[in-house]
Amino acid sequence: MSDHLDRREFVKIVTAALGTIMGAIVGLPAIGYLISPALRVQKNEDWISVGPLEKYPVGKPTLFSFTRSKVNGWEKTVNSYGVYVVRTSETEYTIFSNMCTHLSCRVNWKDEAQEYICPCHDGHFGQDGSVTAGPPPKPLIRYEETKIEDGNLMFFFKES
Ligand code: FES
Repeated sequence: MSDHLDRREFVKIVTAALGTIMGAIVGLPAIGYLISPALRVQKNEDWISVGPLEKYPVGKPTLFSFTRSKVNGWEKTVNSYGVYVVRTSETEYTIFSNMCTHLSCRVNWKDEAQEYICPCHDGHFGQDGSVTAGPPPKPLIRYEETKIEDGNLMFFFKES
């Protein structure tokens, strides 16, 4: 057996090495592209702006709707949410989730009844979010963390 590579073996080894390097150059970014969605971390809490406080009439709960998208690997879902902005004076306000605390249906403010009414099992909530009738076990969720920034009212939203 010879200690030296012959020309044919040398070309074979160099060709195989170049093929491996070229495969890595082309393949690694493709693999990164394919697995990157699975590695992405999705933020599930954020400040949400409901716009200027002045656009909400004093004494009348007003619905503000928004959507948030959630990425789970390769799957993207868009969820809709709603909050009621309740101005109790020119400067005071409260923000409630419109999700019923019974089984998560969406409550609606009814001017004539002066209550939030849940269409699913007839749950009733007062303007302050407290339960006044029906099966809901607790008051509407109230967003405690709020601020006014650049003229816009904002609240801190945590997706559950
Ligand atoms: S979900 Fe609202 S009362 Fe049942």
